[in-house]
Amino acid sequence: MSEPVTIRFEDCDLDAIAAAAGRVCVLVPDEGNLGQEARRVNRLTRGAIARMREAEDGLKTGDLRTLAWPAGMAARAVDVVVLPRRCSVDEARKAGATLAMQRGREPMLVLAGNHPKAAEIAMGLALRDYGFDDHKTAKTPEDGRAVRMMVSKSAEIEAAAAPLLAVAQGVFFTRDLVNEPANVLTTTEFAARLEAMRGIGLEVEVLEEGALAELGMGALLSVGEGSDSPSKVVVMQWNGGDRDAAPLALVGKGVVFDTGGISLKPAAGMEDMTMDMGGAGVVAGAMRALALRKARANVVGLVGLVENMPSGRATRPGDVVTSMKGDTIEVINTDAEGRLVLCDVMHYAQERFRPAAMVDLATLTGAIIIGLGHENAGVFSNDEQFCNQFLRAASAEGEGAWRMPLGRAYADQLKSRIADLKNTGGRPAGSVTAAEFLHRFVQEGVPWIHLDIAGVASVKTDTAFAPKGATGWGVMALNRLVADQFEAAE
Ligand code: BES
Ligand code: MN
Ligand code: ZN
Repeated sequence: MSEPVTIRFEDCDLDAIAAAAGRVCVLVPDEGNLGQEARRVNRLTRGAIARMREAEDGLKTGDLRTLAWPAGMAARAVDVVVLPRRCSVDEARKAGATLAMQRGREPMLVLAGNHPKAAEIAMGLALRDYGFDDHKTAKTPEDGRAVRMMVSKSAEIEAAAAPLLAVAQGVFFTRDLVNEPANVLTTTEFAARLEAMRGIGLEVEVLEEGALAELGMGALLSVGEGSDSPSKVVVMQWNGGDRDAAPLALVGKGVVFDTGGISLKPAAGMEDMTMDMGGAGVVAGAMRALALRKARANVVGLVGLVENMPSGRATRPGDVVTSMKGDTIEVINTDAEGRLVLCDVMHYAQERFRPAAMVDLATLTGAIIIGLGHENAGVFSNDEQFCNQFLRAASAEGEGAWRMPLGRAYADQLKSRIADLKNTGGRPAGSVTAAEFLHRFVQEGVPWIHLDIAGVASVKTDTAFAPKGATGWGVMALNRLVADQFEAAE
């Protein structure tokens, strides 16, 4: 399991700077006076920082300059990052991420001084310092792993950084799950990794196929029929809030591999479908973050874990299955499996927990990638206020989210000749008809958000806070939604 780098906060000791090994990182404002740490580095290097600032006009926030093998210091390099004291959270985190990309095997000392966003710089550094090398035989050695961060009030900054770094741990948990290949992350292995979170205070239950059949989850079970891996639903509960407060429910699509089933996908790119459990991965990471920072809220996380495979036992196009709610579904395309999984888990979540609100997350449609690319997740909601709360949380965390419509006419595209509804609505507005399919399983009065994360869960290029591959998109936004809207006051 990938854990964020340890960041040790220490009080400023200007005299320790000259002897620091490895890399020394220093923040300088875009204009105006240097802080005392930068002044010390400047003096040790006989004015290198001042000369650099003079020579390079137009240095702007986020820029990085490296002085290699500085005379007068033991360090092999000084990394200078431009960051004004009055910067945004995003700018502070990006500065941290820039430093993370400089970090090699040698030790790192960050001189953050009395920067008011030192904790956010640490958060950005932690988030970007991620690699998934579990399956590389050549491992990155663990030596020199800790990063030292010199700040003026170390106890204060450490306390401010603790909940942020808990969220980074949640993000890493999600990324590891999403990056893991499907022969390793089977439904059984996935459930085991979630059960291990009992160790951090989550209540975790695993419902096996027998129990799911008894509950009537015919839609979910129909998806896993063709696989040798057993279908499961895992229920995670974090009860950090008032005893009687109705919880927020998070529901995730956990298709550990999506071949399409009998409606088989083309070979090209099919390997990407190891990330089709991304929704469940985000739910798991969010629950981990909430538990680690001991959130004062009640949140339940439910994930449907299945594998969509073709076989002699697999569900066929044309089959009719019955959902737990009782609605019958004509399976037109076995590749539209995510909604079949989610509809049963969502129904169960509402029947059992009577949640105050519900968010589901799924790598649900290729169509959302056509619409929004890899910059924004699709946001669908039946509730203006709840939706706006989420959009604000996502924006504050720098996670792209864009609202999409719902509507009766889209729902009508799902009318079936022989059953209550069918599982696909044709090519037009594929993401919206998928959302309308789920909408039908949302109970009266439950504020609900559906997040289609097919475009953002895993990407082919580096992003500001992650190398290519799994991003962990959504863990930070959900954590903030909980903090802002569901957390009891101290
Ligand atoms: N898991 C896919 C959606 C997906 C596509 C996720 C690309 C990530 C990247 C989903 O199960 C699926 O196959 N959806 C179909 C639905 C269609 C058959 C109605 C799609 O989008 O093509
Ligand atoms: Mn599919
Ligand atoms: Zn899928």
